[in-house]
Amino acid sequence: MTSSSSFEPSPLDPSDWDEFRRQAHQLLDACVDTLSTARDHPWRPVGESVRAAMELGEAIEGIGIEALASDLVERVLPFATGNTHPRFFGWVHGSGLAAGLLAEMIAATMNSNCGGRDHGAVYIERAVIEWCRQCFGLPEGASGILVAGTSQATVIALAAARLYALGEASRRTGIQGEPRLVAYARDGVHNAIVKALELLGLGSSSLRHIPARQDTGAMDVSALERNVGEDRASGLQPFCVIGTAGSVNTGDFDDLEALSTFCKRENLWLHVDGAFGAWACLAQPPWNDLVSGIDRADSIACDFHKWMYVQYDCGVVLIRDEAIHRATFATRPAYLAGQSRGLGGGDPWYCDYGIDLSRGFRALKVWSALRGYGSRRLGQAITRNCQLATLMARLVDAAPDLTLCSPVRLNVCCFTAAPADWEASVQDDLNAWIAQELQLEGEAVFSTTRINERTVLRAAIVNHRTCHADILQAVKAVQRKRKELLQKRDINGCV
Ligand SMILES: Cc1ncc(COP(=O)(O)O)c(C=O)c1O
Repeated sequence: MTSSSSFEPSPLDPSDWDEFRRQAHQLLDACVDTLSTARDHPWRPVGESVRAAMELGEAIEGIGIEALASDLVERVLPFATGNTHPRFFGWVHGSGLAAGLLAEMIAATMNSNCGGRDHGAVYIERAVIEWCRQCFGLPEGASGILVAGTSQATVIALAAARLYALGEASRRTGIQGEPRLVAYARDGVHNAIVKALELLGLGSSSLRHIPARQDTGAMDVSALERNVGEDRASGLQPFCVIGTAGSVNTGDFDDLEALSTFCKRENLWLHVDGAFGAWACLAQPPWNDLVSGIDRADSIACDFHKWMYVQYDCGVVLIRDEAIHRATFATRPAYLAGQSRGLGGGDPWYCDYGIDLSRGFRALKVWSALRGYGSRRLGQAITRNCQLATLMARLVDAAPDLTLCSPVRLNVCCFTAAPADWEASVQDDLNAWIAQELQLEGEAVFSTTRINERTVLRAAIVNHRTCHADILQAVKAVQRKRKELLQKRDINGCV
């Protein structure tokens, strides 16, 4: 037997583990301090000196673990995006959970490669996928994989849809010579869909943008039907309809039941983009009703890092027909051959379901959120976010100087800091200026978007720390900023 002293320690491991333990404990304290005082840590700009200090230069000699630990705490930790802060409403940025901090430590320690094989992390991911399958009501045997986010999940889902339309041989032959495939989605569909079609070689012009109905905010199914008929008549091959569960701009939903009935009749693949909105299924009525029909989808893409509050990054794609999913991605060259036992065993391997061969242990932070809080508590937080968006809309409606720009059906509230009849260009400047000022002051983060040809303030509430008082304060802050600007300049001169 070899004596342990004959094994040389690695120069990349700490030479003194007790010292490392002390430094790690200090760093953990700094993390817990920061997380527990998230309300005191809004986004702040990264100053020039900090940016300079972040540069690596040639990095030939390292600074050592002790200096690194202090760099991490002092030069990195304070410069976060700010989405842990309860008045961060911009874009769709989830807030992160205390459970995630624990999970990330364990995942970093285990350093698992989840592309395949037979080890604990793979079973954790399977447990998460199985939970998702049941949550969305897909049939037993449906498959799925965790990915960086909905953008990547969409590529996987639409690749499966493409294979369903063209057959397995298309993996070898590609799409040349095939009739042109066409997909359909609502006006205002997220750009992730367009990107996926581009990446899959179908081109952005293969997407038909179908208008949404004014009354319900859902895709007009009769317009969809007309478009599909016209495309077939002109020799194109409709292959996929993308239903949106929670549109990025306004949180609107397509009627997934109606889309599914249509797709079944027309033999089209129904993909649901539910990046954040799909999780309304965990909320109370009436919000959970919005996702009705999602169980009939052929594929679903959504994120844990948005409305399940899980740390970045983690999304999921689910595919109803596991055989199609596997046929789209699986290839096992000799160096990846499965074993009947040992570490090289187990099935499926996640590399059979997606793009990556090497994959981190994303599943653990999701599993920890579900194990630690349970879907009921997470659902209650989602319900509260919807209630707070409704409160924001009520406050906006009650204020003569603010105007709501679209109905609040879920958790997104869009408004302009002006009466509706003000010139659009004035509203554009005013709202953009207010958003920037509030970000810089650290008071609240709104993003902006375009609705009815004007730039408006947009709040997507996906933060479990946001409370009633935050909404009151944020709306007041908008009004204060508006007043400040209008006092400084005449309206047409603003910005
Ligand atoms: C409706 C919708 N789809 C897709 C995406 C893209 O998701 P991700 O940022 O996780 O790639 C988003 C992002 O906000 C979204 O809101």
